[in-house]
Amino acid sequence: MTIQVFRGEILSVARDPALDPEAALHHADGLLVVEDGIIVDRGDHADLAERYAGVPVERIEGLIVPGFIDAHVHYPQMDRIAAHGEQLLDWLERHIFPAEAAFADPGHAHAVAGPFLDELLRHGTTSALVFATVHAHSVDALFEAALARNMRIHAGKVLMDLGPPDLCDTAQAAREESEALIRAWRGRGRLGYAVTPRFALTSSDEQLAVAGDLLARHPDVLLHTHLSENVRECAEVAARFPEASDYLDAYDRFGLVGARSVFAHGIHLSDRECARLAETGAGIAVCPSSNLFLGSGFFDFARAGAHGVRLGLGSDIGAGTSFSVLHTSGLAYQAGLAGGYRLDPFRALWLATAGGAELLHVGDKVGALAIGQEADFVVLDSGATSLLARRTAGAPLAERLFALQVLGDDRAVSRTYVMGRRAWDRDSARFEFFG
Ligand code: GUN
Ligand code: ZN
Repeated sequence: MTIQVFRGEILSVARDPALDPEAALHHADGLLVVEDGIIVDRGDHADLAERYAGVPVERIEGLIVPGFIDAHVHYPQMDRIAAHGEQLLDWLERHIFPAEAAFADPGHAHAVAGPFLDELLRHGTTSALVFATVHAHSVDALFEAALARNMRIHAGKVLMDLGPPDLCDTAQAAREESEALIRAWRGRGRLGYAVTPRFALTSSDEQLAVAGDLLARHPDVLLHTHLSENVRECAEVAARFPEASDYLDAYDRFGLVGARSVFAHGIHLSDRECARLAETGAGIAVCPSSNLFLGSGFFDFARAGAHGVRLGLGSDIGAGTSFSVLHTSGLAYQAGLAGGYRLDPFRALWLATAGGAELLHVGDKVGALAIGQEADFVVLDSGATSLLARRTAGAPLAERLFALQVLGDDRAVSRTYVMGRRAWDRDSARFEFFG
């Protein structure tokens, strides 16, 4: 049994502040007490110091917040960030499909998976829902690297039987390989499986039905796909599924819309689709960096909020251009404002942490630094750059937090802790493995 006591400024937002204005919990001088990786106590130093008087204290300089949750990211696209010139469908054809085809080589998958997870840790991300490629071994490579880092990673093999021949499986292979991966990885470390049809346009009806069947057979897995990102994509979906009332309905007809479904983007949703998402408990990973980079549009926070749609944040690397969920939360503010919505910095932090955790159905385990949760946390340094230091000097908490979201990125993450262990230390530029 190992007890650790961390002393510093602590902030978390356990519930959506749009629904509960008291959701933020802040200790200007707090203690976080961790036993075998689990938070066993938390509170003001003045209240708890006596209880832990005999235990050595690790003093933390900076703002302790929960580890970030990246609710939508593609690890095979890491080396295609900043690919110039196209919107979604042409970008996929020209830049992304060739990059993913290279993952036919298991050695390549292994060579990318570790550095990808290190990038997450360096940016303060401790949990993520990740697209692999169509190749089953791309999932093995990622899960092995995640086990070695003790990270909370959900991923799945991409299902894709329409598209470039070197990236296609079949409905039957999709079923068999997904079943085998679920069997092989269930219950290991902090990993979870996600049935991952790429999007409606790259799966046959038969394969979409297989995805629905996999979900029905395995109630513990997630569904992870893309929805309503780009105008041309939406038009092609409407043409391919004339019987569906809208894009979401094209998935719904195959049993893909449920409480464990995570859809990336949702830029062009109707009120009916928002109502259906809310009714089923399905949610959206909002990806503002990607939406700006691919010219897809701006997420409508007001519409989603009016219906009570579950939300989290995604970097969507490699359409997104930053691994930083902190920075992505600042971009979410900017995307919101384009539609007249003022995203509050505490709500942005909730989206980046507990909101994402709930979306991924791990809200009982991470996201809020609550007693009983796993001690995944990040130390934010508001003096990370001279500009941040100037802007935050003497500023109240909300203003400091907002400046970190707008101006911050990996430079502002001085440490990342995974279950109480220091996994990344910026100042020594060291990762620590402890799988
Ligand atoms: N829609 C289908 N595939 C993709 C992808 O790889 N990235 C994004 N942003 N959208 C998609
Ligand atoms: Zn994506």
